[in-house]
Amino acid sequence: MVRGVACLRINLAMRKWMEIAGKKAKSLAEAISGRRSTPSFDGAAIPPADLEKILKAGLAAPSGYNMQPWRFIVVQSREQKKKLRAASYNQAKVEEASAVIVACGDADGWRKDLDEMLEMGRAGGMPESYAAQAQSSVPAYLSSFSSDQMKAWLNKQVMLAYTHMLLMAEVLGYDTAPMEGFEQDRVHEALRLPMSYWVVALLAVGHLKGTDKFDGGRFGLSHTVFGEEFGKALTLK
Ligand SMILES: Cc1cc2nc3c(=O)[nH]c(=O)nc-3n(C[C@H](O)[C@H](O)[C@H](O)COP(=O)(O)O)c2cc1C
Repeated sequence: MVRGVACLRINLAMRKWMEIAGKKAKSLAEAISGRRSTPSFDGAAIPPADLEKILKAGLAAPSGYNMQPWRFIVVQSREQKKKLRAASYNQAKVEEASAVIVACGDADGWRKDLDEMLEMGRAGGMPESYAAQAQSSVPAYLSSFSSDQMKAWLNKQVMLAYTHMLLMAEVLGYDTAPMEGFEQDRVHEALRLPMSYWVVALLAVGHLKGTDKFDGGRFGLSHTVFGEEFGKALTLK
């Protein structure tokens, strides 16, 4: 109880501080319902502590076999943002954002990381039988992929971490813009990425400048959700 009150006080103090700093902290529900893809940013720098929180939220995401094949390049310098903008169909928000997180998947990550992942797992209580099974099934599964299958697998994993980051940024009071408008080869060149990297999406983070984007609306549950099998309406009692 006392702990709960202390947490509430810290939470309120954090919200107050963020309001003073010009950012409005939000609940996750507020972040989800009020988020828009920011059309333009004011360019103000993002404090390193906030950036760290956003990045760590991404790293906390689940992934297949816990292989965590995501890699992120955080672009903040004027020079690199300029290069990245040129590789992103000249989208101005790439250069205006406080930071652009370039979300990539490493097709070879599992080759290097499997043993370390299993060590971490053992430290957290992974049973030896599970570790032995993963030791053989992860290489068998992932090495069987074609290049296209690997890209699809990486897209899945990376977008989960990416979404964690986007939502954490919004909860902290930042504005965000997801972006798929970029040229793979040009981003590779601009950021000097290894050949095994696959660029999945860019995430621009910063503060909205000017008017926010219109609300494009969303299809409702009856349009997109079925219950039990395709075509049957879901009943929510
Ligand atoms: C994966 C992904 C890639 C996107 N790429 C771009 C982009 O390159 N440029 C852009 O202006 N908007 C981009 N968007 C934003 C979408 O247009 C936007 O999410 C959609 O219109 C819905 O608007 P809202 O995000 O404001 O609700 C992207 C969104 C997603 C999820």
